[in-house]
Amino acid sequence: MLASLFEPYRISSLELKNRFVRSATWDGTADISGAVTDTSVALYHKLAQGGVGLIVTAYSFVTALGQANPSQYGIHTDDMISGLKRLVDAAHQGGAKIAIQIVHAGVNSGYLSQRGIELQAVSKLERIAAPHREMTEEEIDTLISEYIAAILRARKAGFDAVQLHGAHGYGMNQFLSPLFNIRTDRWGGSAENRRRFHLELIRRARQTVGDDFPLMIKFGVMDDEEGGLSLNEGVETAQQMAEEGIDAIEVSSGVGMSARITKRGSPEHAYYRDRATAVKKVVTIPVMAVGGIRSLEIAESIVSSEDADLISMCRPFIREPDLVARWQKGDTWPATCISCNKCFGVLAKGEPLECGEDRRLRKKQSPAGN
Ligand SMILES: Cc1cc2nc3c(=O)[nH]c(=O)nc-3n(C[C@H](O)[C@H](O)[C@H](O)COP(=O)(O)O)c2cc1C
Repeated sequence: MLASLFEPYRISSLELKNRFVRSATWDGTADISGAVTDTSVALYHKLAQGGVGLIVTAYSFVTALGQANPSQYGIHTDDMISGLKRLVDAAHQGGAKIAIQIVHAGVNSGYLSQRGIELQAVSKLERIAAPHREMTEEEIDTLISEYIAAILRARKAGFDAVQLHGAHGYGMNQFLSPLFNIRTDRWGGSAENRRRFHLELIRRARQTVGDDFPLMIKFGVMDDEEGGLSLNEGVETAQQMAEEGIDAIEVSSGVGMSARITKRGSPEHAYYRDRATAVKKVVTIPVMAVGGIRSLEIAESIVSSEDADLISMCRPFIREPDLVARWQKGDTWPATCISCNKCFGVLAKGEPLECGEDRRLRKKQSPAGN
């Protein structure tokens, strides 16, 4: 029997109206302090009205020293809560559930290094030019507390869940990756030590919020770089995080350029499907597949073959926020996203997120060429 993508699905205590997830997407709409703006609210309104079951916000920094990019949301002070609540309201009014993705960028912050700020790193690394220094054990402990404080703020703002950003070469990924973590204390070296941050954070978060508040992770299950995290070790870590109390895992990969994480021009590829399946085989919690999913047919095949439980997409929703509603109404033409990554070009100009291909087409059609 086909598991319907459009039927309700549960992640722990969180009831979703369907199995579609908007994967975390930096949208460049926060103000200089990291606060939500009217532009952010309008974007989330549109998304929620478009039929997706769960929206994961853009990655939001847990401390000012963890900011990765400009116009990124912050969840680092209580002052952020009222603005974030507006995102929650926008999602709920449109009938979607909403989780906030939280991050510390570690050494992966062009934003801070361009401002001459010394980065908080897991290890001091010769190959990294930006000024950075290795965190002390005390600072690691503080960092975990900062994550927990952010989770509590998320709950206060009314989010339905939190997603830890454990992928794409940001802070948590740096702890796990042998390419970034060359520490010789209990936070580095063996696999057991490199995954200590994840397990300790999940344990402490669970102790703080109890069992009722869903905690999820977007997880880089392998690094895709020579000498980096292997799939075996990633899968083993996923299993241990599930045992420690994480409620769902979205399976991504890669610590390199975003263009690899968001592969170009690969329609229908569902390029991390096998990796989601590798995780699904060892856990009983829900697993989300992400990366290059563009058609209802592929989405259905992933879920009905039990390769993963939920279908997560990012770029398709930039072009078509109402993609899920369109599919549900019976127009099953694949997503019109062509995976060109021009959306990054829009953000790089310091402008709010929109589909770069649409923008190009508009320009071409406009007689003035602008
Ligand atoms: C503009 C843009 C912003 C992104 N921001 C985030 C983010 O904040 N957090 C995250 O985990 N991934 C982020 N990603 C990666 C996506 O969530 C997703 O993993 C990736 O794009 C592959 O999925 P897709 O093929 O459906 O786009 C971003 C991707 C794009 C294109």
